[in-house]
Amino acid sequence: MVFFTGAGISAESGVPTFRDKDGYWSKYDPMILASVDGFRQDPELVWEWYLYRREKIISVEPNPAHFGITRFQSIFNEAIVATQNVDDLHNRAGNREVYELHGNIFATKCLECGMALDMPPNFDLKTHGIPQCECGGMARPGVVWFGESLPRETLTRVFELTRRADVFFSIGTSTEVYPAAQLPFEAKNHGAVVIEINPNRTPFSVHADLVLQQPSGEILPQLFEELQFALA
Ligand code: OAD
Repeated sequence: MVFFTGAGISAESGVPTFRDKDGYWSKYDPMILASVDGFRQDPELVWEWYLYRREKIISVEPNPAHFGITRFQSIFNEAIVATQNVDDLHNRAGNREVYELHGNIFATKCLECGMALDMPPNFDLKTHGIPQCECGGMARPGVVWFGESLPRETLTRVFELTRRADVFFSIGTSTEVYPAAQLPFEAKNHGAVVIEINPNRTPFSVHADLVLQQPSGEILPQLFEELQFALA
């Protein structure tokens, strides 16, 4: 079983999505805030935005959809999570085998050599400026930006597990950003039953075996209850 998730699964925790009406990309330019070129042009601005998001994420909690996955995983040993989210909420809800396709917002790495840098989630940007790696490169958020490759081993493993999946949930994602958006199609092509959970339709909806047009924090716990009832 694969739980493939996007920003929508965290919406009910109070974390904004990207492409909805009030999403981040309706206010900000992704090429400025989520690309290496944008970072090189104005690293302070980009860090300000990431530090703001880190602070916001620390102040919220996982919601019943994240906890619902933990409950599914208590019954199904071979159930993994492949998320595009960087917010760490799957881990905080106790999900296991979480593959973070776009990195983690609390990670920091060097812009030049890529080394992971051990740093607290917040630092005083105004007083101390942007921390540096020992190679002299600037610290940057440990997330994947537009134009960058996804972590190779993670991606390969998630594609492998997706091809073997019997059941694949696509939850809270607009299914627009590749290569991650290929996953539900890959699952379908390899024989999985694919269930989409999203209040809005996506380019994948017509291919799904089942589309549940409801908020994931409502429907996932309900699905689990029904499953328990069926297994009893
Ligand atoms: P999007 O913002 O593109 O899509 C969020 C999806 O969540 C939409 O289809 C909404 O309809 C749906 N949604 C909203 N509320 C929901 C709820 N309560 N329950 C279930 N679904 C809900 O976010 P992603 O698909 O995650 O990448 O975007 C993919 C990538 O684009 C992100 O990882 C990020 C972004 O730019 C980078 O920054 C590289």
